[in-house]
This record gives sequence, structure tokens and C-alpha cells, in this order.
Amino acid sequence: MKKISFTEFGGPEVLRLVDAEEPHAGPGQVRIAVRAAGVNPVDWRIREGQKLGAHPVELPAGVGLDAAGVVDELGEGVDGVRIGDPVFGEGVDTYAEFAVLTAWARIPEGLTFEEAAGYPSVVETAVRIIREVGVEAGQTLLVSGASGGVGSAVLQIARDRGITVIGTAGAANQDYLRGLGALATTYGEGWVERVRQLGQVDAALDLAGSGVLAELVALTGNPEKVITIADLGAADYGVRFSGVAGSVPDALAAAADLIARGKLHIPVDKAYALPDAAAAHADSQAGHTRGRRVILV
Ligand SMILES: NC(=O)c1ccc[n+]([C@@H]2O[C@H](COP(=O)([O-])OP(=O)(O)OC[C@H]3O[C@@H](n4cnc5c(N)ncnc54)[C@H](OP(=O)(O)O)[C@@H]3O)[C@@H](O)[C@H]2O)c1
Repeated sequence: MKKISFTEFGGPEVLRLVDAEEPHAGPGQVRIAVRAAGVNPVDWRIREGQKLGAHPVELPAGVGLDAAGVVDELGEGVDGVRIGDPVFGEGVDTYAEFAVLTAWARIPEGLTFEEAAGYPSVVETAVRIIREVGVEAGQTLLVSGASGGVGSAVLQIARDRGITVIGTAGAANQDYLRGLGALATTYGEGWVERVRQLGQVDAALDLAGSGVLAELVALTGNPEKVITIADLGAADYGVRFSGVAGSVPDALAAAADLIARGKLHIPVDKAYALPDAAAAHADSQAGHTRGRRVILV
């Protein structure tokens, strides 16, 4: 099969389309014929060699955590899914013709493979951080960096739960945020005052890692009501860094339910062919994705 791989850490140019052995589903896993893979910032952080987890990345390495496709192999002990089912989920090395998933759900009616590939990691992250920050119906959540993949999911899940959201994004994404039900303002000089004018903030999420934790603590009045997923300086402000992916096993099923009820829709900003994975990474690294970028296989 064809897959995207890299043999040294570096820029997007280290990504190569190569011939590789097909992977196989182990116990509790499924294998899919991949139709589309989601592009996440963590994909290019790993490609750059950033130290993200306890386990070092072994070279040569594949790329990608999210995918949508058709189940073509069931691992031992797997039930509730059949060969030929369309699913979306999380696994490893998903920029490839075949990939093994460790968590999945059936793709809801009406969602294309291209759209479905954009959901898994961002929905898992959104459900996790809304829970961890402890915000409830009737309260107001501030989301810094709200127009990207995680932000798009957070805004809609929060709206469904009766939480008011104030989101910050670039000037070009103000109407996008409002369309997702949020109060919107731009980041950049004067943003704290603009947020104060929109309302009192009960809890805050930093999704962009743009050096705003001191301001988020000031706006909420309590570091325990602030969570970041992108600022490694969190501890300096008494703020929690949330980083344990896969900690919400039911997130995909919850997402499928929200999608089926018309409560969650994350647009695809741009789709790329598998050989163009390097361009997808370069565009993602530019830091201004509206919704999601995906790779078509
Ligand atoms: N720890 C975890 O579990 C975890 C999980 C998922 C993601 N992450 C990390 O979280 C970050 C966001 O992920 P994502 O998938 O949502 O990324 P993304 O889709 O690339 O979105 C990035 C967003 O950041 C916004 N942005 C850029 N500069 C900003 C600034 N100065 N202030 C506020 N917002 C700004 C952009 O908005 P405009 O286009 O409107 O400028 C864009 O919408 C990444 O760093 C990723 O690595 C961590």
C-alpha cells in the first residue's frame, strides 16, 4: 500500500509517499480502507521532532491520528461493527491507504468521508476540556483561538449544553464564530477589554497557546477555571495543561449523536490529495485553519 512516512525529523519536505506493508488489526482494533485522514497540528509537531509524550517516536515513522473509511478487518474480540461499515475514529499512521483504529464510531447519515475525517481528535479534545474546566449551563466560557478545529467543536458542544461562549479569532473569522452561536471578538491589542464588554467570564480555554494565560486568569479570577491545550508554560500561572488524548472513550459516539441531531458541523477548510501531505502540513503550520484540513486517500 501507499503511505506517508518520514525518515528524519524536519520541515514538511521530509514527508514522502512510500510503498509499505499493510498494517493488520490487533485485539480490540479494526482496520479500515482509508478514504480521508484528518490533519492535526500534533502531526507536524511530531514530524518536527517536538518532545510531546513519554514514548519517543521511532524512525521511519508514519503520520496521522484521525481517519474515516470502510472497515475491512476486525481484530479479536471486536463486536458491534461489521466488515463494510463506514466509520470514523482514532488510530495511528492514518495518512495511508489502510490504517488500524483503536477507537471508532459509525459515520452518521449524510456525512461524507472527507467531512468525517475531521472530527475524531478535535471532538475528543473538546469534550475532555469542557469537562475538565467544569463549566455548566447558564455560565459563560471564554475560548481563546476559537475558529480552528478544536474551537469549532468546543463552541457547538458548549452551545448544545446551554453554555454561553465568547470566542476570539482573527478578523476574517468573526462571522464564522457568530454562526456557531458564540459572541465574537478579535484577538490582538485591547482584546481583554473587548471581552469584558461582552460579559463576565466564568471559565476559559486557551486553544492557541498565544501567551494569554495571565489575562485568562485575570478574567476568570481563578487559575483553576482556566485550561490550556497549547501553552507549556501553564504551571507558571497555576493553570492546568490538558494533554491526555483518548481519555473520553464515548466522545466519538457523543459526536455522532450531535452530528445526527444537526447540532455539530465542522467545515473542511481545504482537502489535499495523499501525495500533497507536505502542503497540508505547511498550511496547518501557518496557524489559521477555519474548521479542518483533511487528506483524501
Ligand atoms: N493538548 C491536547 O490534548 C491538544 C489536542 C488538540 C490540539 N492541541 C493543540 O491545540 C492547538 C489548536 O489545535 P487546533 O486543531 O484547533 O488548531 P487549528 O485548527 O490549526 O486552529 C488554530 C486556530 O488558532 C487561531 N489563532 C492563531 N493565532 C492566534 C492568536 N494569536 N490568538 C488567538 N487565536 C489564534 C486561529 O484563528 P484565526 O485563523 O482566526 O486567526 C486558528 O483558528 C494546537 O497547538 C494543537 O497542537 C492540543
